[in-house]
Amino acid sequence: MIKIFRITAKNKILILGSNGQLGSHLSNDLAKLGEVTSLDRNGFNFENPESLDLIIKRLSPKFIINAAAFTNVDGAEDFEKIAYQVNALTVKKLAILAHENNAVLIHFSTDYVFDGLKEEPYLENDIARPISVYGNSKLEGENYINEICSKYLILRTSGVISKNEDNFISKIINLSNDRDELNIVSDQQSSLNFSGFISQAVLEILTELESNIDKEKRWGIYHLSGQEPGTWYEFAKFTQEISKKINPDSNFSKIDINPIPSTQFIQKAKRPKYSFLSSVKLKEDFGIELPNWKKSIIEVMENNE
Ligand SMILES: NC(=O)c1ccc[n+]([C@@H]2O[C@H](COP(=O)([O-])OP(=O)(O)OC[C@H]3O[C@@H](n4cnc5c(N)ncnc54)[C@H](OP(=O)(O)O)[C@@H]3O)[C@@H](O)[C@H]2O)c1
Repeated sequence: MIKIFRITAKNKILILGSNGQLGSHLSNDLAKLGEVTSLDRNGFNFENPESLDLIIKRLSPKFIINAAAFTNVDGAEDFEKIAYQVNALTVKKLAILAHENNAVLIHFSTDYVFDGLKEEPYLENDIARPISVYGNSKLEGENYINEICSKYLILRTSGVISKNEDNFISKIINLSNDRDELNIVSDQQSSLNFSGFISQAVLEILTELESNIDKEKRWGIYHLSGQEPGTWYEFAKFTQEISKKINPDSNFSKIDINPIPSTQFIQKAKRPKYSFLSSVKLKEDFGIELPNWKKSIIEVMENNE
């Protein structure tokens, strides 16, 4: 489906993947900056990229925001070809078209491009060595953009959560309805980030870029995450703390949550043990910081009606 949010403003913004956790926030927030055209899977399917030339030539956007991705980390192990098509090959085509049409490309990537062996916050210039198909496909997409584009930002984030149904918070709450206890991995560290906070940060970044775009030099990769790491177990326990305050009678508020090592939780794709992203560069260059993961969880839990 194609939605056009505002027709009067000067900046033309194309958002791809507008149905996702991040894409849906961006579609609303970026209307403050210009005329937004939001395309979901029906408006443009990354598995069949033929129509992309026509879309970009017709719209002639100043900013192209790619929030679409094959984000099912375990599913990517089974559907490798589709994951590469969506996360890498169509991203290459997007990069070429953005470059040819002098558009700024804003693309999102992931902490899962790292192998997790560093054990301290990952910086943008740390070597990426993914350990899953998803991570590899996202890194390949990044590499194409780095090679092809001159005006682009790759914003790597982690653990995106929202009020949508398919994320860590909704999964643990739904699981508590038919389990006696929840066993949650306590030896993998990353961070959770509310998609609305990421979207607001993107709005601030674009507002800055837009003001002096011809002289802009701050292109490249940025990490975009809250300030503190945490484990999935810590995220789950804190979510339950909030749940006990706002919904004390729910199954989730009462269920036992136990820490387990990742060796006891078999998943198809390997995950990095430590993938916390340092966002210091973003703060230094743009003066922007995301709230910590506790604020992200509160945002999702407390405004969940
Ligand atoms: N989710 C996380 O925890 C996480 C962590 C780190 C980085 N990231 C990155 O952050 C970005 C946004 O993630 P998110 O959490 O908003 O993901 P999401 O909620 O899964 O949204 C992804 C969107 O991509 C769309 N999509 C998938 N395949 C497509 C295709 N073939 N054609 C067109 N659209 C397609 C999906 O469409 P449908 O709605 O139709 O399925 C969905 O709307 C992605 O680049 C992701 O890699 C996410």
